Amino acid sequence: MATCSDEIDCARRLIAAAPRIVVLTGAGISAESGVPTFRGAEGLWQRYRPEQLASPEAFADDPRLVWEWYGWRRTRVAACQPNAAHLALARFALAHGKTLIVTQNVDGLHADAALAAAGDVDPGPALPIELHGNMFSVRCTACQRVWRDTAAVDASSRDTLPTCPECRALARPHVVWYGESLDGAQISHALCQAELAAACVVIGTSGVVQPAASIAAVTAQAGGEVIEINPDETPLTALCSVSIRSGAVAAVPDIFDLGSEPAEGRVQ
Ligand code: APR
Repeated sequence: MATCSDEIDCARRLIAAAPRIVVLTGAGISAESGVPTFRGAEGLWQRYRPEQLASPEAFADDPRLVWEWYGWRRTRVAACQPNAAHLALARFALAHGKTLIVTQNVDGLHADAALAAAGDVDPGPALPIELHGNMFSVRCTACQRVWRDTAAVDASSRDTLPTCPECRALARPHVVWYGESLDGAQISHALCQAELAAACVVIGTSGVVQPAASIAAVTAQAGGEVIEINPDETPLTALCSVSIRSGAVAAVPDIFDLGSEPAEGRVQ
């Protein structure tokens, strides 16, 4: 029975040998930064129903309630920092290229890690595709303008909610809600890269939300390896060459910190 360290070593070898990898992350990679997941025991969906707060219908029905929830989430996430897993991925992407980071998270922590790891070089190779948007971006409900907004949300009344600086119409969080489509160009690019990738590393996702969860299946169907890092098994576990039952912070730095020498060069 392989031990976790054997699996980590196997994952390192697969990643070191892969000319191109896609990394798919979910809420679990941010859990150790203090950001609540959606479906765990303490998950957000234990306390709120998605259709109550994360849907265009909910926003049309009560924009103040939806903004109150996003205001609470933004305040909570603003106090969180990228953890060692975010940073290890960013450093790897900057050092080795060959990596596309695709996240379902809207917390912005991968982008923060990219900026922190890059220092004064271009963070581009480590910047993620944020498939579900970013809670610190807002979009005008009328003219569709998008801008970054990290200000505290005053949801005390309908009149104090964020509005568009251009046309004064009500603004909404620039995130993908239930029943809405993802950005077509983003998901097409992610799926295309998944097909070309020799390995897809899936970190901290329950693998139940499409089309993001299909990214790993596309790599597997094209003959690539799937590596999973998650304390629990998921529907994606069956696709995996290596499935590591671990938290992200314990495993991701070991797997991605190839240092100057790829894993296969390591003395056993
Ligand atoms: N390290 C790695 N994985 C972890 C950790 C950790 N420290 N803690 C929890 N996990 C795992 C859980 O076992 C679970 O499989 O992270 C996963 C989190 O799953 P979800 O809460 O379902 O989050 P996610 O998969 O990102 O949800 C996908 O659903 O509601 C929508 O838009 C929302 O983007 C979200 C999407």
